[in-house]
This record gives sequence, C-alpha cells and structure tokens, in this order.
Amino acid sequence: MGETKRVGVGLIGFGVVGEGVARLVRDNAATLTARIGVPIEVVRVAVRDLSRPRGVELDPALFTDDPFRVVDDPKVDIVVEVMGGEHPALELLLAALNKGKPVVTANKALLAIHGEQLYAAAEKNGARLRYEAAIGGVIPIVRTLTGAFAANRIDTVYGIVNGTCNYILTRMAEEGVGYDDALAEAQRLGYAEADPSVDVEGIDAAHKMAILAALAFDTPIDFSDVSVEGIGRISPVDIDMAAAFGYGIKLLGVARRHDDAAVEVRVHPAMVPLDMPIASVNGALNAIEVEGAEMGTNMLVGPGAGQGPTASAVLGDVADLARGLVDGAAVSPRPMNVPVASRVKLPPLPASKAEGRFYLRFTTSDRPGIMAALTKPLGDHGVSIASMIQTEHESDGEETAAVVMLTHRAGGEALAAALAEIDGVGILRSPTVVIRLVGDA
Ligand code: NDP
Ligand code: HSE
Repeated sequence: MGETKRVGVGLIGFGVVGEGVARLVRDNAATLTARIGVPIEVVRVAVRDLSRPRGVELDPALFTDDPFRVVDDPKVDIVVEVMGGEHPALELLLAALNKGKPVVTANKALLAIHGEQLYAAAEKNGARLRYEAAIGGVIPIVRTLTGAFAANRIDTVYGIVNGTCNYILTRMAEEGVGYDDALAEAQRLGYAEADPSVDVEGIDAAHKMAILAALAFDTPIDFSDVSVEGIGRISPVDIDMAAAFGYGIKLLGVARRHDDAAVEVRVHPAMVPLDMPIASVNGALNAIEVEGAEMGTNMLVGPGAGQGPTASAVLGDVADLARGLVDGAAVSPRPMNVPVASRVKLPPLPASKAEGRFYLRFTTSDRPGIMAALTKPLGDHGVSIASMIQTEHESDGEETAAVVMLTHRAGGEALAAALAEIDGVGILRSPTVVIRLVGDA
C-alpha cells in the first residue's frame, strides 16, 4: 500500500466505545497522522438504530444498520468491532478475516467463547486480529505478553479485571454508597456492559481471564472450565469485617498453570491485605499481575473501563495496524504467542479444589451450643480457625448471631464438606458467605 493516502476505519458499533474512537480520531488527528504517516478516517459506521442521536458528529451518509456493509466496503481498510455480543459479531469478524482484512475488537465475550475459531481464521488468512481493549481497558497487557514478556515462561496471571465491580466495591467501602446506587453510577459513567449482570456476576472478568490464560500459558481454554462467582453476596457487613481484620474486598481473577499438568482459571471476590499494592487499586482502575521465573512479578495498572481509556486501547491497535498497511512496519501476523494449532490443551483444575485461607460469615440463631455446631464440623474436616468475631443482633423478632471466622490454610473440598455439614444442622438463618483471602489466593 505504498500510495496510501489515508487509512479507512469501519466502525461496527457506535455506543460508548465506538463514539470514543470517533472522538479520538477527530481530536488527535494531527498526532495520529504524524505517527502513522497518513490520516485515519472513519469511513463507515454500523449501528442498530439509525434514528438515535449520536454524541459525535459524523456525516449521516456513513451510517448503516447492516454491519456486513462495513466489512464489505472496499474503503474500509481496518474493521473495528465495538458492538459486543456473540452474534452477529462472530460472523462479521470471520467474514472480515476471511477477506484478509485486519480486525480490531474490544469484545471479550466473543474471544473467550469463540477465540479459537477466530485466531485460526486470522492465521489461515494471514489477517491481523488485535484485541488489546478486550482486557484491562487501557492496560497494554496483550502487547506486554506477546512482546516484552515473550521470553518468559509464565505460570500465574491474576488481578482486578472488571472496572464496574471494582468501582462498586470501592464506593461501598469508601463512601458507604449502596450497591444499587454504585452500580447505577458505574452504568452512567460508561463502565458497565449493556447487560450489567455480566459484570456483577463475574462473567466479564471470567471472559478476560480465559483470554489471558490462553495467551499467557499457550493453551486453549474452554470458557465453561472457568469458575465464576460475582459480587452479589458481598454486603456492607463483609466490607466492614474485612477492614477490621486488615483487608479490603476485591473481585479477583486468578489464572495459574500447575506445571504442565493442569490449568486453573477462576474469578471470585477475595480479601486482600490492605498493605498489598493491589488493595489500593480503586474505582474503575484495573491491575494485572504477571509472574515469571526470570522476570519476577510485574503489576500493570490503569483505567479498566470507560470511553476514553477503551477508545485509546482500540485506536492504539488501529494505529499499529495502519502503520503496517502504510509502510510495512513490523506487525505480528499471529493473534497469540504461538501458532494456535501447536498448543496443547491442559486439563482444568476446578476452583473448588484450590487450597487457601478463607473468611466465613455465618448468620445463626443465637442459642447455646451454636459455636460448637460451627467449629466441630470445621475441625472434623481439618479446617483450622485463625481468628473469630461474634456479634449479636435481632432480625424478624429473633436473636441472631453473626459469627465471622478467618481460617488457616485449608483445602477447598474439605471446607465445602464442613460447610455442607453445618448447613444440615438447621441453625443457619441465611447462606454462609465464603471469601478467599489473597496472599494465599
Ligand atoms: P454500547 O452498548 O454502548 O454500544 C454498542 C453499539 O453497537 C451501539 O452503537 C449499537 O447500536 C451497536 N449495535 C449493537 N448490536 C448491533 C447490531 N446487531 N448491528 C449493528 N449495530 C449494533 O457498548 P459499549 O460501547 O460499551 O461496548 C462495546 C464493546 O466494547 C463490547 O464488546 C464491550 O464488552 C466492549 N468494551 C466496553 C468497554 C466499556 O468500558 N464500555 C471497555 C472494554 C470493552 P445503537 O447505538 O443503535 O444501539
Ligand atoms: N464492563 C467492563 C468493566 C468494561 O467494567 O470492566 C471494560 O472491559
């Protein structure tokens, strides 16, 4: 493309992220042109509802409600998918890759579930597929894993990868804001998914961890093997109790390779010691820690959601691909670190088996013998208690007790067996809250 006069971008989706990309193309035009060599231009835009007013002004003639017209348009040099969802996003991206067109996507749900098919199509057609914005917002984790860290064997990647949940937990802990109000704020600020239950149920973080694990460990990951728990059961009392013990509560994603025998990918709330750096990663910030034998532990931190950071990540990929189109600058043709067909699938290790320390909050009727009914099954299953707090209060005319314990290190299955036994006694007034402690997460 030696005579390229401009690089044409086709946007599929013009919501929070799509509008952000168009705004950045407009506002940073001079910088982008200087860095790429020619201007970037938005030449086609697909939306669902053509009558909706838009936050960034573009020629109405560019808009279509048929996203395949973006893929097919010869003026579109790079397809940018910021629409979301599995279908028709999958068919659109396959169509673009099969034409050999470079693709940038922010769609983690799509990559977590259909990534293998897309990576294979990209490789087969020699088409570039970039997805930096899909994980950790503006944090350049894909580039770092495929570039700066490419010489390392990586066995652990973990961190905070959902801005909405981190924002909610931070607002609850620091300002005492209620869960529903904090979620509404996150939606207004453009952090949440179109269906916010995907965020608060931990599914979005699980999508990101599945993509990260596949990339970091050079192994395909079945999304159905990822264990997922969201923040719905975390109440202000847990946040206060955690603080009393010297911890904060975060929704954590953990991906770990156990030699070459198994891989564990899980997402769940976790209690983080307040003096650990990740405990002070607040609001919509994300943090991703990567551990490698030679390089040690690195933590990358940055805004994990929202229009500006996500548009910046998308356009970073666009700029990289555009440079490749304009002057043949080196752009890796591979979507992963290794050819997709060369990877070996490792058996999944279910989260329920993972050892750790745990926070337990029991809500019981307040009568003699309760403490023994809680501690005996735990002891019988080898779960040892490190510290304990009991408080009393009245609920629905009945005296109830909240008993909070921190355990020593215990097996996940042993704990589950003890909790099932306690549940069978009939003294619990609401389901037991179980939160893993970090440090041992
Ligand atoms: P929005 O819901 O704000 O925007 C989605 C856009 O896609 C809208 O413009 C919508 O059209 C359009 N669209 C949806 N379905 C179709 C369809 N079938 N045909 C044509 N257009 C369609 O989502 P976001 O911008 O927040 O997110 C987009 C993607 O980016 C998602 O994959 C999300 O997970 C990802 N992402 C989002 C981040 C964020 O902070 N918001 C951060 C990182 C990734 P219309 O406007 O007419 O409704
Ligand atoms: N809904 C996502 C989040 C957007 O809150 O992290 C960024 O991927």
